[in-house]
Amino acid sequence: MVLLIVSALIIPACSNTADNTSNGRKVKLIKNEDQVYVGFLIDTLKDARWYRDKKLFEKQVKDLGGEVKTLAANGLDDVQIDQAKLLIEEGVDILVVVPHNAEIAAKIVTMAHKSGVKVISYDRLIANANVDYYISFDNEKVGELQAKEILKHQPEGNFAYVGGAESDHNAILFRQGAMNVLKPLIDKGKVKLVYDQYTNEWDPETAKKNMQALLKKRGNKIDAVIAANDGTAGGVIEALDTAGLARKVPVSGQDAELPAIHRILKGTQTMTVYKPISKIATEAAKLAVHVAEGKKVTTDTTINNGKINVPTILLEPIAVTKRNIKDTVIQDKFYTKQEVYQ
Ligand code: BGC
Repeated sequence: MVLLIVSALIIPACSNTADNTSNGRKVKLIKNEDQVYVGFLIDTLKDARWYRDKKLFEKQVKDLGGEVKTLAANGLDDVQIDQAKLLIEEGVDILVVVPHNAEIAAKIVTMAHKSGVKVISYDRLIANANVDYYISFDNEKVGELQAKEILKHQPEGNFAYVGGAESDHNAILFRQGAMNVLKPLIDKGKVKLVYDQYTNEWDPETAKKNMQALLKKRGNKIDAVIAANDGTAGGVIEALDTAGLARKVPVSGQDAELPAIHRILKGTQTMTVYKPISKIATEAAKLAVHVAEGKKVTTDTTINNGKINVPTILLEPIAVTKRNIKDTVIQDKFYTKQEVYQ
C-alpha cells in the first residue's frame, strides 16, 4: 500500500518533467563529464538514409571530442518524447532532433529548455516551438527538381503526386516545390493532376496500394508520377510494373537510395534527389558541439516555424539521373562503382 502511494506520487512528477539534477548537481551520465554530451533523436531507421545520418553524425561529434547517444523512435511520438526525457535525464548538453511529428515534437523543445538544453531541428523542422537552430536541405527545391525532371520526360497529361507523410513538415515543402513547377501547366490545362495525396508514414507498401487503386480507377491512364522519395517511388514502380507500365511512366524519387539508383539504371525510375548526407551530418554535429560549448553561431537565413524565425542552415539538393550518377553519388563516394553497377 505504502509503495503504491509513493509511486502514485512519483509517476506524475516524472512524466511531466525531465530532471537532470541530483541534489542540485547536474548529472552527466558519461565517463568524462568535461566532454560535450550530445543526444541525437531520430524518428525512424526505416529509410536507409537515416543509418548514414546516424553513423556520420556520431563520428563527427566524437572527432570533435564529444560523446553522443542516438535513439530512434520507429515512428512513435510517445516513444520519441520518452527518449527525449531520458536523454535530458542523462544530462545531455544539447538535443538534435529529427521529429516524427512536427507539431507533437514541440513538447520536446519545451521540456529541453526547462532543463537548459538547447534543441537543433535536424532535416525536419519542429513546428510552433522555440527551436534554437534548424539544419536541412532546401526542401522546396527538392520538389522543384523532381517536377522539372519528370516534365522533361512527360510535358503533359495525367499526373499523380504521391506525397510523403503529412505529419512531416518536409513532405509539405516537397509538395509545395513540385506544385510551384506544375501550377502554370495545370492552369494552362496541359497537366491534369489526377491524384494528389500524402502517404501515411512514408510507407512504400501504402504507396503501392494507393497506386494500384488509382490505376484501377483510371483504367491505367496515368502518364507521370511525382513520388516524394525513393521509398514511395519503389512502391509506385511495383504497382506500375504489375500493370505493364514500368519504364513507360516516368517516376521521381529522393534520397539516392541504392535500389533507386539501380532502378534508374534499369529505366524504371527516372530520377532521384541526392542530398549529401555527409554534409548535413557533419555540419549538424559541428553546430551541436559549438552551441553546447556556448560558442556563438551565425546562420545565413531563418525559417518561420509558426512561432519564431528559426536560425537556419540550408544545403543544396542535387538531381540525379542516368546521366550524372558518376559525377554525383560515385564521385562523392556515397557509393562505390561496384555497388552501383553490380
Ligand atoms: C526526409 C527524406 C526521407 C523521408 C522519409 C524526410 O523528412 O527529408 O529524406 O526520405 O523523410 O524518411
